[in-house]
Formats: sequence, structure tokens, C-alpha cells
Amino acid sequence: MKKKIIILGASGQLGKEFKYNKEFIKSFSCSFYDRNEIDISKISELENIFKNECPQFVINCAAYTDVEKAESEKDKANSVNNLSVKNLAMLSKKYNFTIIHFSTDYVFSKLYGRPFTETDKKSPINIYGETKHLGEEQIVKFAEKFLIFRISWVYGEWGKNFPKTIISLSRSKKKIDVVSDQIGSPTSTLMIVCLIHRIISSPNLDKNYGIYNLTPSGQCSWFDISELIHKRLRSKKSCKLETISPVNSDAFETIAKRPSYSVLDNSLIKKTFNLDIKDWSFYLNHFLDKVDEQYHDK
Ligand SMILES: NC(=O)c1ccc[n+]([C@@H]2O[C@H](COP(=O)([O-])OP(=O)(O)OC[C@H]3O[C@@H](n4cnc5c(N)ncnc54)[C@H](OP(=O)(O)O)[C@@H]3O)[C@@H](O)[C@H]2O)c1
Repeated sequence: MKKKIIILGASGQLGKEFKYNKEFIKSFSCSFYDRNEIDISKISELENIFKNECPQFVINCAAYTDVEKAESEKDKANSVNNLSVKNLAMLSKKYNFTIIHFSTDYVFSKLYGRPFTETDKKSPINIYGETKHLGEEQIVKFAEKFLIFRISWVYGEWGKNFPKTIISLSRSKKKIDVVSDQIGSPTSTLMIVCLIHRIISSPNLDKNYGIYNLTPSGQCSWFDISELIHKRLRSKKSCKLETISPVNSDAFETIAKRPSYSVLDNSLIKKTFNLDIKDWSFYLNHFLDKVDEQYHDK
């Protein structure tokens, strides 16, 4: 029998990657719900669906993710990222499912001179990071069977993200400035879905619940990402971009602070689930190959 999985927040960039991943939907019995169908802040809507469908796993891709707006919409961000997650955690116990939830590198900001491990002390420096940190705590406190995956700088085929912005700018601008003093690890939605597929299928899952950093290996700046993209695109007819200049974060005015270093150490997830995780540039190149296929612009 295929495992029954409910995916919430199905129209976000990660939710859609699950929804349209052929291997994933072939292997499991999946139900997808977007915000119009289930609002995760409404406990009665959640409870109805769990009662009717008896899932073994619930993957929560729903979140308040606007880092800038969160600074002025703290209650909204807290409602989705913290209070609703508490409901999900409590319901996971009541209906006996494993909750899979996503958190962020933005729970960290203090520098240890090395990538962050799962047990490092958290220190979010913006409201989004704070609400995601509180959501993690709710799951740890109220759920029994859970996997929290900390991911960072997420990109993929669906929704808005940094690599897609650079691709788009390359078609209209000759010069752009890109921040070079924030260091992290860009995480592909396709990589996330493929690895979660493996993890859900793992025979010893019930001995390995907990928090895991789920990012590629290596580290880079936003500037490094844009340089790799430019290298791949510059021979194309549609590419107008000639120069990318590295700049410091203070060249762009933002409402929310971002950590200057938020690289996550992925050793624990690799060891626990015996995963082969490659460097960030491998996944970004793979993404660019797919973009190539779509645009046929050689
Ligand atoms: N994007 C990143 O760089 C990044 C980095 C680290 C961690 N993460 C985490 O990764 C997860 C997936 O993020 P993502 O990039 O896929 O974000 P996303 O594209 O913004 O998707 C989030 C989805 O959640 C939905 N949603 C918001 N409030 C809801 C509610 N009350 N009930 C049901 N659905 C609701 C949104 O719907 P609407 O669009 O209608 O609001 C949207 O479809 C999140 O937990 C996020 O915190 C993301």
C-alpha cells in the first residue's frame, strides 16, 4: 500500500515542486491543498481533512514568507508561522501522523566561524526568522513524530526567486549590482523533494525524527550565484547583461535585516539517511539546464 500524504500550501514554490514531481506522486498517495482549500490557521479545516483522510504524513509547505513585509505584519506572520504550526503539531499527535515542516537559515545570525549545526543556539534578527523559530519550538514541544527541515535561499521552477530574477534581468539590463557580503547556500526545490522522497521511504525513519539542515554542500554569495548564471547565459541571443558588480548589502535599502552568514552544515542529514548531497553549483547548473530546455534559446 502506498503511504498516504497530505501536502498543505500546495501553490507555493515548494508545494508546486511536490505537486508536479512525477516520481513523488507516483510513489505515494498524495492529496494537495492550497490556501483556498485549507487555511492552516483554521483548525476546523485541518481537523476535517485529517479525520477524513487519515494521512501517515502531512507536509506543511504553507508559510508566511515575505521577509520584508513581516516587519510590519508581525501578527500575520506569527499566526501562520507559529500559532498555526502549534495546531498542526497538536493534531499530528491526535491523528497519529508524521509532520514534515520547513524552517529557515534565518533562525541564525550570530557568527561561530563555521556553518551552523542543528543544535547551535538560535538568534533570529528579523520578524520572519523569529516566527519561524517559534514554529520550530511548537513542533518540538507538541508533536511526537516530526521532521523539521531547515532550508535556505530556496529557488526552483515555480514562484519568484533569486535565480529567476537574475535570468529575467539578464534579458533587459546591461549592468546590475549584486550583494556579495551575504554568504549562504541556495537550495533547489527539486533537490528538497528528491531527498524527502528518499527520507520518507527510509526503513529506519521512526528512529530518526528531529531537526535537520537540508541544504546543498558548499557556500556562496548572491554575487557568486549571479556570476554562475551569467556565465551560462552570456552566449545567448537574449542575454543583454554585460557586467555584474559586487556590492555590500548597504547598497540596497531593506526593512528587514539579513544575517551576513547563514550557511547550514548538512553533515547530520547525510549521515543519518545515507544521502549523497552535492555542491550548490551542481543543483544550480541542473536548474539552468532545465531553463535552457524550456526557452530553446541557444
Ligand atoms: N523561499 C525561501 O527562500 C525559503 C528559505 C528558507 C525557508 N523557507 C521555508 O520553506 C517553506 C516553503 O516556502 P516557499 O518558498 O514555497 O514559500 P511560498 O512560495 O511563499 O509558499 C508559501 C505558500 O503558503 C501559502 N500560505 C500562506 N498562508 C497560508 C495559510 N494560512 N494557509 C494555507 N496556506 C498558506 C501561500 O499562499 P499565498 O501565496 O496565497 O499567500 C503560499 O502558497 C516555508 O516554510 C518557508 O518558510 C523558504
